[in-house]
Amino acid sequence: MSSAKLVYEGKEFTLPVMEGTEKERAIDVRKLRAETGLVTYDDGYGNTGSCKSAITFIDGDQGILRYRGYPIEEVAERGRFTEVCYLLIYGRRPTLEELAAWRQKMTMHTLIHEDMKKFYEGYPPNAHPMAIMAAMVASLSSFYPDTDKDLDLNIIRILAKSKTLAAFAYKKSIGQPFVYPRNDMSWPANFLRMMFAVPAEEYEVPKAFEDAMNLLLILHADHEQNCSTSTMRMVGSSEANLYASLSAAICALWGPRHGGANQAVLEMLEELRASGEDYKSFLERVKKGDSKARLMGFGHRIYKNFDPRAKLLKTAADRIFDELGIHDPLLDLAKKLEEVALSDEYFVKRKLYPNVDFYSGIIYRAMGIPTDMFTVMFTLGRIPGWIAHYMEQRNDPDGYRIHRPRQIYTGETQRVFEDWGTKRL
Ligand code: SDX
Repeated sequence: MSSAKLVYEGKEFTLPVMEGTEKERAIDVRKLRAETGLVTYDDGYGNTGSCKSAITFIDGDQGILRYRGYPIEEVAERGRFTEVCYLLIYGRRPTLEELAAWRQKMTMHTLIHEDMKKFYEGYPPNAHPMAIMAAMVASLSSFYPDTDKDLDLNIIRILAKSKTLAAFAYKKSIGQPFVYPRNDMSWPANFLRMMFAVPAEEYEVPKAFEDAMNLLLILHADHEQNCSTSTMRMVGSSEANLYASLSAAICALWGPRHGGANQAVLEMLEELRASGEDYKSFLERVKKGDSKARLMGFGHRIYKNFDPRAKLLKTAADRIFDELGIHDPLLDLAKKLEEVALSDEYFVKRKLYPNVDFYSGIIYRAMGIPTDMFTVMFTLGRIPGWIAHYMEQRNDPDGYRIHRPRQIYTGETQRVFEDWGTKRL
């Protein structure tokens, strides 16, 4: 095991260096405070490893993303979402028999308790579906209080019910009756049918949309220690139940810097098109740091090269639009912004490339999914990843500690809290 030396106030300290299977290295500072009285400072945790994990590997410089060692390009091309859920959570691909049983179980748990439908009635029509998802997922712990006693069953429950909760949130927002899941459809097709079927007529799920949905779900399934997954681990570290931890992760994903970016990308493109502003002058405003202008869908804490998911989604968008004969001016606008940004010094110097959110919203829009449902779509894909990390932490053979970071206090030093006694008015 190699080590690092720290010289501080004339003393030399030796800190062990850990190495992962992909040769990533970290200074193990778990004993730093006990030995030196020092803590580390790293706002946003950009240089801090919070855990060891065997689920997803990302090499941001090479644009590499692998789920349990499988390259995302191969998983995206050959996998089905329900199988990827199993792979991420249990660490290996299921046998064909296990897969059949897994999908059968998922099929038999798609309904939500009828009493949960009453919750939807209380929301205003314009309630953001992410607020509904966070509340509904947390509420599952009221209907299944045995969450911790049978985690495998409750994992199946949320993987099966998440699409129902999401589709019901959409139907609620447009004032249409809920459409119940069917048992003879794939996960993606079942979801799209619950979204778009109406009692008066069946909804034939276009194969291109079913395949696109499968791809989008797989590409969003996990991404190591991103903001929402770290939230899942932090909340789970207090031994909060699975559904409570998932609800917290959903709220973290909602932010426009994170999963809310796909909605923000479409709003940016729509505003730009509606305003008639030239996309080059928009990019000039972005570069000037105009507070209202940020190139949403660009940039990433880890990827300092192309986000491989963005590449796959750009190709998928072209394929779907060709197949369906759709022409979306927003796709043209996105491509123009990307083309200019990729050769512009401001973006090149900061290594800002399109991320997963840059093209995903355009595909959702082509399927008829409204913009405020885009982050819910991200949620549906990411739930298996969040579960995988929650379970990896819970099952860590070395045990797990409650997450409790330190701080550097910069407030007032001690002062007297004067007794105002009778002075008070
Ligand atoms: C996701 O972590 C994950 O893995 C997340 C995710 C996942 O699968 O879970 O991949 C999903 O969240 C993708 C990211 C989606 N967010 C966006 O598209 C929002 C726009 N991008 C950003 O706000 C930003 O790039 C972040 C939040 C993604 C990354 O932020 P960092 O790493 O903290 O970088 P930063 O904000 O410090 O920016 C560094 C520089 C700054 O300029 P300077 O101060 O050095 O002059 O780059 C600039 C920033 O102003 N910059 C941008 C920019 N993103 C960064 N400038 C214009 N447009 C942008 N989009």
